[in-house]
Amino acid sequence: MAKHAETALIPVSKLAPESAEKELARLASVIKAADEAYYGKDKPEITDAEYDALRRRNLLIERRFPKLKRDDSPSDKVGAAPSAKFEKSKHAVAMLSLDNAFDDADVADFTKRVRKFLGLGDSEKVAFTAEPKIDGLSLNLRYEDGVLTLAATRGDGTTGENVTSNALTIADIPKSLKNAPAVLEVRGEVYMSHEDFEALNRQLVEAGEDAAPNPRNVAAGSLRQLDAAVTAARPLQFFAYTWGELSEPLGETQMDAIKRLAKLGFKTNPLTKRFYEIDKLIAHYRKIEEGRSGLGYDIDGVVYKVDRLDYQERLGFVSRHPRWAVAHKFPAEKATTVLEDIEIQVGRTGKLTPVARLKPVTVGGVVVSNATLHNEDEINRKDVRVGDTVVVQRAGDVIPQIVEVVKDKRPKGAKAFKFPDSCPVCGSHAVNELNPNTGKADVDKRCTGGLICAAQAKERLKHFVSRQAFDIEGLGTRQIEAFFDDGTVKEPADIFTLRRRQDAGDIDLYRYDLDDKGARKRDKSGKEKPPTNLKSVQNLFDAIDDRRKIAASRFINALGVRHVGETNARLFATHYGEFKDFYDAAVKARDENAPAYADMLTIDGVGALVARGVIDFFDEVHNRDAVDRLLKEVSPQRQETTAASSPVAGKTVVFTGTLETMTRDEAKATAQGLGAKVSGSVSGKTDYVVAGPGAGSKLKKAEELGVKVLTEQEWAALIKS
Ligand code: IVH
Repeated sequence: MAKHAETALIPVSKLAPESAEKELARLASVIKAADEAYYGKDKPEITDAEYDALRRRNLLIERRFPKLKRDDSPSDKVGAAPSAKFEKSKHAVAMLSLDNAFDDADVADFTKRVRKFLGLGDSEKVAFTAEPKIDGLSLNLRYEDGVLTLAATRGDGTTGENVTSNALTIADIPKSLKNAPAVLEVRGEVYMSHEDFEALNRQLVEAGEDAAPNPRNVAAGSLRQLDAAVTAARPLQFFAYTWGELSEPLGETQMDAIKRLAKLGFKTNPLTKRFYEIDKLIAHYRKIEEGRSGLGYDIDGVVYKVDRLDYQERLGFVSRHPRWAVAHKFPAEKATTVLEDIEIQVGRTGKLTPVARLKPVTVGGVVVSNATLHNEDEINRKDVRVGDTVVVQRAGDVIPQIVEVVKDKRPKGAKAFKFPDSCPVCGSHAVNELNPNTGKADVDKRCTGGLICAAQAKERLKHFVSRQAFDIEGLGTRQIEAFFDDGTVKEPADIFTLRRRQDAGDIDLYRYDLDDKGARKRDKSGKEKPPTNLKSVQNLFDAIDDRRKIAASRFINALGVRHVGETNARLFATHYGEFKDFYDAAVKARDENAPAYADMLTIDGVGALVARGVIDFFDEVHNRDAVDRLLKEVSPQRQETTAASSPVAGKTVVFTGTLETMTRDEAKATAQGLGAKVSGSVSGKTDYVVAGPGAGSKLKKAEELGVKVLTEQEWAALIKS
């Protein structure tokens, strides 16, 4: 080993081919010896950091001199560790979430909305089912010809993770079915009982590990284990409550379908009941709430669903929620603690958010040490002071909130909080902006530093890589923090030049540990697992390259334009198709008299405030430059409407007169779901006017302009074609 040791001191960039060859030979033997010590004898002779450095050096030399790569190169022997990833799996039918109701009035609104949408008269009864909302994680089980072929987590709703081998270890999940439809996707919740959760926590603590915070967390962690043996050792359970793709219907009603699932061998929740009156629904909710602590598993509310499946189909979905169901949540859990400090955080759009630092307290099984105070008004209204005893509450996944101050316990001399007038990060002025819609000053204070504010820049980057935006595997908040703080990544385009800069030797990412807590992972016996740095950096580069082509809607969302989140980004992407067209329109719309501005406002859902956010963003030369640099690296893909193949996709439709088989809302929602634009007035751009009895001026105008006029039946036939 020592015979070429002199080459060890030469920097990679200075190595001549001859010395590089010698150095590669030396590295191969040193790394081999280290591997033998580590794996074979369980006795490492060098530290992990030294080992990583050797492999890194080897790889860099191979990059510089690809021809010199040895047949026994250590770089080819990295694949031993299990893949840190699950295979992605696209859902045949999206897995959506539920809208929430927080009180009886919200429930009444829900039932009213359903009746109105369906156009039902007062005398017509609508049945709803009510069942517990299980606090676990949802899973889609696909059976083909009665055999379980795929189990996938929900993921982002469109794509989940393939966890089939783990699901196979769950006793409640049938592996094969008799008399099942040829294609059957059963959906439900994986959860862990209180009893099993407590037993597991006892084991963890005995083994010197941290106790898990709640059953849902453990259930999620257990299902997403790379080693199915670990999942098998965790007693998970499963309740079926809905379905995805089906080759034939399971019944005519929700209740029938659930009974059918039970008959096929799935566990369904015994508290599922059907009611015709809203009072009875709510009485069932109260009953479930009262019995909650005795159930033996966590629930966080009651789900109501329209029972008739033909109604469910007509009601359909609005953005991410079905119109035919709602989750009636239980009130948040509360606890009392001491507020130790108030800190100001600066968000991606410069908003200053006060955050309460609390003496840690357990609320509903989770330790809480921070709570949001929203804004200056909220602090003043609640008169929250440092040192106060406060009541905190936590509902589901939302950030804990401060409900009230226990005034009797206020320490003497506690001073009212003075909200800062300047940004705590960059020192720029913080102001309450005017809202163009209301003409009033906003309640939020914002840092005016824009791009010079490090906090804003960092938050924008975090948003850029977030799940609804670029969603780059291995590039999360922690990595962005580190990359930003040392100047490796200052703006989005920098992410896409990481590999090139690494290869050129300008940066060295191998010194970051990309594992979860910055520590080397350990296996069950407490032994450190093999170094993963080298692999994770290569994986990161690959994950980044995977995103060089990205849907225009994600791209737009990623930019972090004010008032443009996931939903509005999708509206823009669908309207303009190409990102470049959106970009050009935004620049032209600076002039509010320009056709581009008027056109932007024709997008259903886009108003003056959103348009202003877009225009202001592209008006800023720094932003345009940053986007231009990003466009050199990434190509946003033309947005396909989900219904691109429908006969009315992209067409503009006007409904007029009385519709007989559906309500106006329903007609509009169906048309939009098929990719059509629904307009309130007839113009030369209108493709179809659907006219029912009593149609007046719009019908006349359509006839004058030669726009195609359809009856309701003709329209129904057209959209089915
Ligand atoms: S029905 C279209 N029923 O709640 C969505 N969901 O917030 C139909 N959940 O992702 C879902 N218990 O993970 C339904 N009895 C139940 C449920 C339930 C728990 C979860 C599910 C879903 C989330 C929606």
